[in-house]
Amino acid sequence: MVLEQKEMDVIKELQTQEKSCVEKYRRYKEQACDMELKNLFGKIEKLEQKHYDTLGKVLEGEVPECNCNDDDGKNYEPPVTYTQADNSEDKKTDCFLVTDCIGTEKMVSSEYNSKVFRFANAALRKLMADIQIEEQNHAEMLYKYKTANGMA
Ligand SMILES: [Fe+2]
Ligand SMILES: [Fe+2]
Repeated sequence: MVLEQKEMDVIKELQTQEKSCVEKYRRYKEQACDMELKNLFGKIEKLEQKHYDTLGKVLEGEVPECNCNDDDGKNYEPPVTYTQADNSEDKKTDCFLVTDCIGTEKMVSSEYNSKVFRFANAALRKLMADIQIEEQNHAEMLYKYKTANGMA
């Protein structure tokens, strides 16, 4: 697959965003108080790294296979760490971090939703849709963590 320059530019822009997501989850993993949230951030950090690497392959002219059927969000069942009544600083910190990440996932997901129309190649459009679904899955896991822990 040969990309036009303007398509390459869009992929590079998305890659910059993914790199920032990797760093965000790495930093937030350090800042989180609850071990479950640290693990969740660590898991999503790896998934964002995979997005970054996938876009790197696209820049080399390859379109990696995707399944468009990711169950990460649906299958995640977070254990309860904080009660509804818990008013601790730890809970406030974790609530802030997880809420901020949901906002980022919403923004990144909508980026893929609009950028998908910029590509001529059908397999590449499918890949963009697949990544968009995965970003929504990240948001779903984060939201489940919030509700399980009396933060929503
Ligand atoms: Fe991503
Ligand atoms: Fe994400």
